[in-house]
Amino acid sequence: MTLELTTAGESHGPALVAILTGLPAGLRLDRDAIDEDLRRRREGYGRSPRQQLEHDEVEVLAGLRHGLTLGTPLALVIRNRDHETWAWGMSPWPPGGEPEGKGTRPVTLPRPGHADLAGALKFGHEDVRDALERASARQTAAHVAAGAVAKALLRELGVSVAGRVLEIGGETDDGAWAHATDDARRERDTLGGVVEVVADGVPPGLGSYAEKRDRLDARLAAALMGIQAVKGVEVGDGFALARLRGSEAHDEIERDRRRRTNRAGGLEGGITNGEPVVVRVAMKPLPTLMRPLRSVDLATGEPADALVERSDVQAVEALAVVAEAAVAWELAAAAREKHGGDALSDFVGAHRAYLERIRWPR
Ligand SMILES: Cc1cc2nc3c(=O)[nH]c(=O)nc-3n(C[C@H](O)[C@H](O)[C@H](O)COP(=O)(O)O)c2cc1C
Repeated sequence: MTLELTTAGESHGPALVAILTGLPAGLRLDRDAIDEDLRRRREGYGRSPRQQLEHDEVEVLAGLRHGLTLGTPLALVIRNRDHETWAWGMSPWPPGGEPEGKGTRPVTLPRPGHADLAGALKFGHEDVRDALERASARQTAAHVAAGAVAKALLRELGVSVAGRVLEIGGETDDGAWAHATDDARRERDTLGGVVEVVADGVPPGLGSYAEKRDRLDARLAAALMGIQAVKGVEVGDGFALARLRGSEAHDEIERDRRRRTNRAGGLEGGITNGEPVVVRVAMKPLPTLMRPLRSVDLATGEPADALVERSDVQAVEALAVVAEAAVAWELAAAAREKHGGDALSDFVGAHRAYLERIRWPR
């Protein structure tokens, strides 16, 4: 059984859409839990005023009846509340009438660090908005909603996933994060940071070494690297391991097959080993600067300042939620591959039988 996710939606279009296939029937979903993750994604000290405007709520169009999945495609929608002000500019059909609201004038000033230039060249867009609307991290709301569903599935197996911030703007002291963000805002600059995601209760045996594509560490890295502004991923102690000797780097195996250390981050040979899965993610400083970098006007070919548009100073707290969703999704997908099942009870039953076989305490 393969768990798959397809999303659609522009940042200021009518809505974001997610279609999830491969879920078992009979999984109970909690609307408040999904909305709570959407709320967590919007929050954070460095976010733009748009995040206060947006009030994301999930709507379900298919695949759910009376709170239980039907085992058919689950279709989720999150409306973009501020689409109203972009109704002309982002109208899916030729808008007609006088241009009004936002997005009516073409964007021709690509931002260094954003998808603007490469996206416009690749797709032949004269209005950079045609690239930036989908490249924008607004689409991560759809992934967070899907991640909330994945977490509900994982909970049935006793697995929990949590993301947290480790660093913002090079500061590891959480007391300094608000100051660092204020300083950057005052200087009309942006910050990046580091987040960590830990999954507890993960059984041994998710993922495989059979092929590169089966390795769960590789899948996690791809899923995390697929998030906007992520430029580095480490599994366990990652880069620090490169500076140690083998005798210091590996996690010795005890009689109960558990480890006293977890430098491997719960993954050996691309397979979970029964220890918590630990990954860290590095986010670059956001590319939209209120004091813009140098660019070129694509309409005239002349040097110009890059586009300035309402933007976050930093979004590291939000990244922690988005990365948590990505890890949950990949773990849930690996568990579906391993245990299959059309009904939730088939899936959970296969998981329990497997734990019996390997005599792994629940
Ligand atoms: C949760 C989140 C929020 C973001 N918010 C912004 C933002 O407000 N302004 C901005 O310029 N980039 C923001 N980004 C990053 C850009 O979307 C990203 O840098 C851009 O799409 C280019 O992709 P790349 O950095 O992966 O190469 C955000 C990223 C995430 C994960």
